[in-house]
Amino acid sequence: MTPHAPNFSAIPAERLPELLRTMPKAELHMHIEGSLEPELIFALAQRNGVSIPYASVEDLRKAYAFTNLQSFLDIYYAGASVLLKEQDFYDMAWAYLQRAAAENVVRTEMFFDPQTHTARGVAMETVVSGLHRACVDAQAQLGVSAALILCFLRHLSEEEAFATLEQALPYRDKFIGIGLDSSEVGHPPEKFARVFARCRELGFHLVAHAGEEGPPAYVWTALDLLKVERVDHGVQSSKDAALMRRLAADRIALTVCPLSNLKLCVFPDLAQHNLGALLDAGLVATVNSDDPAYFGGYMNENFVQTFAATGLTAQQAFQLADNSFVASFATAADKQAWRDRLQAHFAGF
Ligand code: HPA
Ligand code: ZN
Repeated sequence: MTPHAPNFSAIPAERLPELLRTMPKAELHMHIEGSLEPELIFALAQRNGVSIPYASVEDLRKAYAFTNLQSFLDIYYAGASVLLKEQDFYDMAWAYLQRAAAENVVRTEMFFDPQTHTARGVAMETVVSGLHRACVDAQAQLGVSAALILCFLRHLSEEEAFATLEQALPYRDKFIGIGLDSSEVGHPPEKFARVFARCRELGFHLVAHAGEEGPPAYVWTALDLLKVERVDHGVQSSKDAALMRRLAADRIALTVCPLSNLKLCVFPDLAQHNLGALLDAGLVATVNSDDPAYFGGYMNENFVQTFAATGLTAQQAFQLADNSFVASFATAADKQAWRDRLQAHFAGF
């Protein structure tokens, strides 16, 4: 503890929501296509002459009743079909980044799914340049540090992942890492061991979704075969005591997404979420929104609802925000500056 360590016990419980909303934080797990609000889906569909099988914004929102990951992914990929032009990708990312700034997210590492777009004939360059232009503007106009992580769709083949990597390499200065998402069960990390090894040689940061619906074994192989630096979700790890010890010992961050877990029925209700147990076990857990337009909340809603349901404390709020900076792929200098800002925020609250 530094001399300016916050006095957590001086913060009254009724001020916790305000503290959660105002504290600086990093978001490390969000899919930019999952930030497409129904209103923007309809606006882009009209702008691009794309037809979508929903009569209205309300009709589309009503379809957001999911039973598991796949039931969500089917709608998520349908929503992304309205994205065609560079400006569409920019507009989507800019809307999210403005929201992030308003919620005191000072750093965000956004996933994108190029295969969802290239399969529809959209050029890789269109996708990457629209998203990257929004990241540049976010730093300049909003003071938000934003970076991109390219995800391979795990329901597709490793060969297709290799082809996607080749298409993306001309733009390699515009993304910092590689991830793995989409349908988890039946598509274990080992399916992508060779392409991840190549990405590692190329110097990219590596992450993968594992242990969202899939078993602890998928978290083990994400660590040992893919050599990921963070695990996305990873909540099923609590079923394996040896895995929990490994994650704690190696300081592997879990990018936990409570409202996503609730909406995809990973936990029956938020009160039973294991975020507190992950922190108690010494894991570097973080809070993230995953697909905020679909799961009923951006960062602050994830924090406020989870804390209300589970009884987490101001000290745990500090820990989660501090973890988000520690686990980010930003420069050491930026990370330290944000951690100092976080300390100062708590000390002055
Ligand atoms: N899990 C897997 N793939 C995804 C998700 C998710 O929560 N969101 C978007 N693609
Ligand atoms: Zn995700």
